[in-house]
Amino acid sequence: MARVIILHAILIQIIILLSKIEARPSLLTLTYPQIEELGSELKEIDPDRTAFHFQPSKNWLNDPNGPMYYKGLFHLFYQYNPDGPLWGNMAWGHSVSTDLVNWEALDVALDRTDPFDINGVFSGSVTFVAGEPVILYTGIDDQQRNVQNIAFRKNGSDPLLREWSKSGYNPIMLPVGDIDPDNFRDPTTGWFGQDGHWRTAIGANLEGRAEILLYKSQNFKNWTRNEFPLHKSQSSGMWECPDFFPVSLSSKDGLDPSVNTGNIKHVLKVSLMKTLQDYYLVGKYDEKKDVFVPDEWYKDDYRTWPMIDYGHVYASKSFFDSKNNRRIFWSWVNESDSEADDVKRGWSGMQTFPRAIWLDTDGKQLIQWPIEDIKLLRKQQIQLRDFGLQSGVKHEISGILTSQADVEVEFELPSLEGAESFNNSFLLDPSKLCDEITPSDEGGIGPFGLFVLTSDVEGQEEYTAIYFRIYKSSDRYMTLMCSDLKSSSRREGVYKPAHGAFVGVDISKDKRISLRTLIDHSVVESFVGGGRTCMTMRVYPKHVLTGQTSGLYVFNHGSQEVKIRELNAWEMAKARVNIENDDFISRAYI
Ligand SMILES: *[C@@H]1O[C@H](CO)[C@@H](O)[C@H](O)[C@H]1NC(C)=O
Ligand SMILES: *[C@@H]1O[C@H](CO)[C@@H](O)[C@H](O)[C@H]1NC(C)=O
Ligand SMILES: *[C@@H]1O[C@H](CO)[C@@H](O)[C@H](O)[C@H]1NC(C)=O
Ligand SMILES: *[C@@H]1O[C@H](CO)[C@@H](O)[C@H](O)[C@H]1NC(C)=O
Repeated sequence: MARVIILHAILIQIIILLSKIEARPSLLTLTYPQIEELGSELKEIDPDRTAFHFQPSKNWLNDPNGPMYYKGLFHLFYQYNPDGPLWGNMAWGHSVSTDLVNWEALDVALDRTDPFDINGVFSGSVTFVAGEPVILYTGIDDQQRNVQNIAFRKNGSDPLLREWSKSGYNPIMLPVGDIDPDNFRDPTTGWFGQDGHWRTAIGANLEGRAEILLYKSQNFKNWTRNEFPLHKSQSSGMWECPDFFPVSLSSKDGLDPSVNTGNIKHVLKVSLMKTLQDYYLVGKYDEKKDVFVPDEWYKDDYRTWPMIDYGHVYASKSFFDSKNNRRIFWSWVNESDSEADDVKRGWSGMQTFPRAIWLDTDGKQLIQWPIEDIKLLRKQQIQLRDFGLQSGVKHEISGILTSQADVEVEFELPSLEGAESFNNSFLLDPSKLCDEITPSDEGGIGPFGLFVLTSDVEGQEEYTAIYFRIYKSSDRYMTLMCSDLKSSSRREGVYKPAHGAFVGVDISKDKRISLRTLIDHSVVESFVGGGRTCMTMRVYPKHVLTGQTSGLYVFNHGSQEVKIRELNAWEMAKARVNIENDDFISRAYI
């Protein structure tokens, strides 16, 4: 922080000096190139680097792989390029944690070494077989085919599981028959059936049809493809990174993947290459036929399926945390600035903050919520209670550092009179609606919400809006949520969409809507209605490059008053995440 302030002071001096020169250029064109010349400082400050999101110290990251809890430690593997900040040379990066918040980076766990994975070690999972962790992963082999491989821990007395040995009988599954060798990947965590056989499911493309293929094995080594796929779709292109797990209908607790009795349902999550978004289906798993049967509302049209996150995440993966009896979930959040900036910065990609995931009491939608452990990082708190937001008001939440913050706010709508009418053509494309409207429009009920990562400095105004607008259709109220990045950054080459979703809450019943937003420098994760709708966005404000701090506001641009029942905002401490040469966990364990 000190360095930022000094740098800022130097800049002001430069600006004052230069302002005495005639025909001076504008403030904006002046400050930014000055910072660029201070290349090493920029790198040290790295304003895009996060304080509490999982990312490697350098290089490229994508899909989370094989998360697990084993003998006191959490492990997260991830798709990693050991040689640079752009995609390529796929390997499994590896980190360990005791609390899912602070992470120590270990050496690459699986690299491209054998004919069955020489062109890349791709995504996969960990299964506990007789208590021992076993990795299933996709390799791209020497014939450029997707094949499935297996790896075992090498050293039974290393609690950090640093070394893995690939089995001599790899590959264990080949793309034969009708399977497209370019599209056969990402084995799920295995589960064990009543018939004494293991199962795993794999994303595949068969003659243009997406299928989640099911394989069975008695010994976890010899696998046979089942007669039926676990599930299939004609309409949505290739499905990758499947995740399949049971959820309780009566509790928030997570379940071991092999549980298939009691008051439960199953969830199938798939990542659609066509849209680069993650969707999920809730239904029943028929263990006799080994097929997943989605609930009756389901149609083979992905535009009607709920999304894991309506923002910018992909390739999500969950695991059962047996220590705390919960299911935890990560998702890759990619960059959306220019590749040149990624190269300059030396890294790309991060994971969402770990989320607990469970089924809503309605039995239909998943709820995702940042794990409680995040509270370890909360520092100073600002609170507002029963605060009226009149039409046109923008109120600053000041007194904490808001570029790394956890904000929870509950809005109350005194009346739903004045809601604008809903046009059904919006239904299938809320992002288009969010793109057409703006947070400064004067609506009926809303837009109201948050402006985050803002700069008020003249000529450098920037803001990211997360907001709501309520519409009335013939038989119900629709709650639209938008994350609008159009004014989020003045940097070149940044993707600045508006994303939208209709929130699955009945606003006419309790006339309240909650929003929780995790702000962490270049990532903003929002959870609406207690986690029923999630939206994650990457944001690259330019003002931070000159050492300026960012602002946070609540606003209401609707004609109707909106109340804040309660708002709590915490400044967040910086976690220890994959810092080079930081062996704080190894030292305690070895
Ligand atoms: C196995 O791990 C233990 C604990 O870290 C270590 O002391 C031992 O040297 C390792 N053995 C081999 C063969 O690497
Ligand atoms: C797999 O099954 C075949 C034929 O049943 C057998 O010959 C082979 O040894 C088995 N491999 C393993 C690793 O169990
Ligand atoms: C990554 O970012 C770009 C925007 O730069 C976006 O269009 C794309 O869909 C994102 N997702 C993935 C999985 O690549
Ligand atoms: C609803 O939207 C469609 C498509 O934009 C438009 O053609 C139609 O006129 C709209 N209906 C109403 C009642 O505004």
